[in-house]
Order: sequence, then C-alpha cells, then structure tokens
Amino acid sequence: MPKDALPQVALAGRSNVGKSSLINALTRRRIARTSAAPGKTRLANVYRVELEGADGPGRLALYLVDLPGYGYARGGAESANELRAVAEAYLGGPHAPYVLLLIDSRHPGLDADIQAAKWLESRGIGAHIVATKIDKLTRSERARNLDAIGNTFGTAALPVSATSGEGLDELWRMIARIARDAGRVE
Ligand code: GTP
Ligand code: MG
Repeated sequence: MPKDALPQVALAGRSNVGKSSLINALTRRRIARTSAAPGKTRLANVYRVELEGADGPGRLALYLVDLPGYGYARGGAESANELRAVAEAYLGGPHAPYVLLLIDSRHPGLDADIQAAKWLESRGIGAHIVATKIDKLTRSERARNLDAIGNTFGTAALPVSATSGEGLDELWRMIARIARDAGRVE
C-alpha cells in the first residue's frame, strides 16, 4: 500500500457492479481486469493517477483503488469471505479512504448494498453513491431507479456508464473535488 499522504479514492460495491470497468473507462486504458463472471478482482489494486487542470488549475495526484466486490457466491462462502476480508482490511487500514459506493442502476435497494453502506457509515467512512450500467435502462426505468437509489441511500446517485461514457466527466469532477477536499494538492 502507498505510504505517502496522497488521497485515496476507493471503488467499492457488489461483485460485477462494474468497479474495474469504471477504472478503465475513467483512465481510458485497460489497466484493471474485468470479467462477465463475478469475483474477478481478488486484491486491492492501487493506481496512481494525475489529473491536469481538473476542477481548477494545477495538477492533482491521487490514488484510485479497485477493491474486490462483495456478494460473490460462486466458489462458496469461503471465497466470498476472503474477498470481503481484503476489502474490509483495506477500508479499515491506516490511511483515510474516500469511497465511491457503486450501485447497479438495475437493482436499487439490494440488501447487500444497504449493509455495505451501513458498514461504511459505522466506521465513519463517507461514501458517494454512483449508479452504474445506466446504459442498460430505459428512460422511465432510469428515473424510477435513480429515485429509488436516492431514497435508499439518502443522497442523490451519480449515473454513469463505462460502456457509453455517460457521467464520466461528472465522476472525474467528483473525484477531483474529493481529492482537493482531502487537502493534499500537489
Ligand atoms: P468484481 O471484480 O468481480 O468485483 O467485479 P467488478 O465490479 O470489477 O465488475 P467488472 O468491471 O469486472 O464488470 C462486470 C461486468 O459488467 C463485465 O461484463 C462488464 O463488461 C460489465 N459492465 C461494466 N460496466 C458496464 C456498463 O457501464 N455498462 C454495461 N452495459 N456493462 C458494464
Ligand atoms: Mg473488479
């Protein structure tokens, strides 16, 4: 894990919600491994990112952290517990993480996601809600599901798609804001 004081923004969420795909879409690179089968990411993968002119002048450096997902059933409870332990060990670590909690826009209000939000809150970790795979919804589903996610988590969700690119500029701005608020501008 990085030992310096740069802000760390972690992507958390259920297995298959699109964490690794979103890192690739944001960076326009294939740096994170993705898979149609859940349980692909098995470690906390840390990427150092530099933003030029994001949300203000100057260069902003930060870490994006791709975490294993929760709720992965294949491979049994042992495998699911192991992945969860990696994510929890990272989030419980010595640095102050800022979390993007990714929610599949097709499935608002899943118990596993509500539990994850509670877990983060109980540890004093603030989470920003991001609704993934928004390209898969019709216009009416979109309005309804974003409403439902907002109601469930008590804050508006940012809709994004790694496939169509929707919401990525807004997400970068959100990440830049989080990093700047962390007060460590290079
Ligand atoms: P784990 O590593 O298992 O926790 O999963 P993950 O959250 O990293 O998901 P990943 O990025 O590997 O994506 C899972 C599947 O969803 C892949 O088949 C992706 O192609 C697909 N996917 C991810 N983002 C999007 C999106 O915005 N739109 C669509 N249509 N599919 C997506
Ligand atoms: Mg992954």
